[in-house]
Amino acid sequence: MNPAPAVVTHGGAGAPSRFSDGCRRAADAAMAVVENGGSALDAAVAAAVILEDDPRFNAGTGCVLREDGKTIEADAGLMDSAGRIGAVAAISGVKNPVLVARRVVETRHFLLAGEGAAAFARRHGLCTGNPPTGKALAEFSGEACDTVGAVVRDRAGSFAAASSTGGIRSAMVGRVGDSPLPGCGYWAGPAGAVTATGHGEEIARRLLCRTVYGFLESGTPPEAACRQGVALFPRETSIGILAVTRTAHGSAANRDMAHAVLL
Ligand code: GLY
Repeated sequence: MNPAPAVVTHGGAGAPSRFSDGCRRAADAAMAVVENGGSALDAAVAAAVILEDDPRFNAGTGCVLREDGKTIEADAGLMDSAGRIGAVAAISGVKNPVLVARRVVETRHFLLAGEGAAAFARRHGLCTGNPPTGKALAEFSGEACDTVGAVVRDRAGSFAAASSTGGIRSAMVGRVGDSPLPGCGYWAGPAGAVTATGHGEEIARRLLCRTVYGFLESGTPPEAACRQGVALFPRETSIGILAVTRTAHGSAANRDMAHAVLL
């Protein structure tokens, strides 16, 4: 028997729970894709697009500014349980970086960065501009780190994870975090899918999503696996994790984290 589809979305560690309506809209978009026979990968992309278009979240339209107070550089990545991976890093001038990452899946590479990624986006008509929002300018200094993400199980029993971010606030121009890096900001395989939010340098040091995926592989239920992942970090490091398996889903964070579950 085919498994029932499942979608879990988040608006980032530190994103207040009252923003969960945006995560719910993203989950609805993803569920519509799988209900219509679409893949987990395309459903995760659909969810991430809605989150990127919501200016309350630090991704796409809501990206924070780099330390120069004017530059936006975004990272995004996605993966499915067939091992397909697409990602972009430090890309500018793009409203929906996750759509560019989705196109990268169809190439012979898995990650495009900087101007090469922007040129690739232009070739595919995806350079639709991403000027700083008034919110980004008003909140230029601060500590929040609100990567968005989604994990999906589709009707065929495939899994996918997606992640998209403007990075940590006031980062150096050219800085790349965990979100475009497989195993760090996202991972998917036969045992399920995992996505992470929080401080990218610390997430990368722990290869967080591959580590949590390993917990799933060894039979740990996803809720406990997410909690074990968060427990790898000191309290002052903001972290959030989502996971889905064939039979369950889970989430954990050491901050408020707007999120939504749709089964
Ligand atoms: N997790 C987002 C970043 O650190 O870039």
